[in-house]
Amino acid sequence: MSWFEYRNQVLCAESVSLAHIAKEVGTPLYCYSTAALKANYEEFVDAFRDRDVLIAYSVKANANQAVIATLSACGAGADVVSGGELQRALAAGVPGSRIVFSGVGKTFEELNYAINKKIFLINAESKSEIIEIEKIAKSKKRIIDIGIRLNPNTDAKTINQISTGKKEDKFGLTEKTFIELVKYAKNSKYVNLKCLSVHIGSQIVNNLPYEKMLKVIDRVIKKSNHKFEFVDLGGGIGIAYHNKTKKLNYKKYSISISKFLKNHNSKIIFEPGRSIIGDTGILISKIIYIKKTKSKDFIILDSAMNDLMRPALYGSNHKIIPVIKKGGSSKKTYEFVGPICESTDKFLTSKNFQKLKEKDLIIICDVGAYGMSLSSNYNVRPNPIEILIKGSKINIIKKRQKLIDLI
Ligand code: LLP
Repeated sequence: MSWFEYRNQVLCAESVSLAHIAKEVGTPLYCYSTAALKANYEEFVDAFRDRDVLIAYSVKANANQAVIATLSACGAGADVVSGGELQRALAAGVPGSRIVFSGVGKTFEELNYAINKKIFLINAESKSEIIEIEKIAKSKKRIIDIGIRLNPNTDAKTINQISTGKKEDKFGLTEKTFIELVKYAKNSKYVNLKCLSVHIGSQIVNNLPYEKMLKVIDRVIKKSNHKFEFVDLGGGIGIAYHNKTKKLNYKKYSISISKFLKNHNSKIIFEPGRSIIGDTGILISKIIYIKKTKSKDFIILDSAMNDLMRPALYGSNHKIIPVIKKGGSSKKTYEFVGPICESTDKFLTSKNFQKLKEKDLIIICDVGAYGMSLSSNYNVRPNPIEILIKGSKINIIKKRQKLIDLI
């Protein structure tokens, strides 16, 4: 949160007061910091710079055009999982030569579009998908570069709903099928197998799962007897949502990768999402009402689970702080909720919060990743406006949706 700091008791994004932004454009509002975005990207580049890497920003984390364009200008590629994300990445200026297409269910139309755009790599997840790619390649008299996604059966030790690398998960292929498909692809006239890909889950803060994953990849590559020009390690790098938690140690991860590369002369692809955009975004909300009960006070905000799904979907806790810090010793226990007719429309219960009143502004922290991208129009609620701060400049990067568009 270092790009969001209190100045004279008012929280600022870079050099802009958030109280001022909220007054200008209304609430709820997503606000991102360009400096934070660039700093996170550079930190990632630095941590893995001693080898040949492609950093393909995972667009699903935040698909705003300006976010993708900012990262692309820094040199990032893109990891996309739908024709829509692919079109956005291209429109934001990411060259096709830096785009990786992942996902378990790419349609014929999506594959055809990707092949027409000559993107860098398609990571296939089934034999049927490879056959579909071969059909398109044959009709265009081309050879298409592909990867095959391995399911390493590795527990990412993260929230169950966002774990993707265990054998019961729908993603990737078992070791046995993977090796069969390597043989199949090697004999194909229409595909060139150049990558092994994996992605074991998201919000991983411990290095052990990655170490285990690398051991499995090492064994499977040796067994497959194929030289993979690229190994795509996916994303998943976790961030510190709370003071008590730590983000993943890049250095340790980098050391494990170096060890792995001693046996394999491959280039590495990363698909980071959360670690690049997560802590660069906040959600500013206004208090509509305060409802007092015997045990706690409900703070009813103008943002809800449709704007930020993570607490309702995964039980995740995002820190909440006031826009204007007030002195005084009076502290309260508050339950921050939205106006939606669901009991899961609840963000956080916070003890020892400064005393609040109706119309005060609060901030929900670290929502740059999977905040806006998971939002919906549930209860016919228009999507919030999105702002990207650059120094003292306020750029509207997505207008507030109008109610009329939903009717
Ligand atoms: N690559 C693949 C193939 C993925 O499936 C994902 C995320 C990523 C890369 C990027 O992972 P990241 O670096 O952001 O962890 N909605 C959930 C997260 C779902 C992640 C889905 N796949 C959340 O809000 O926590």
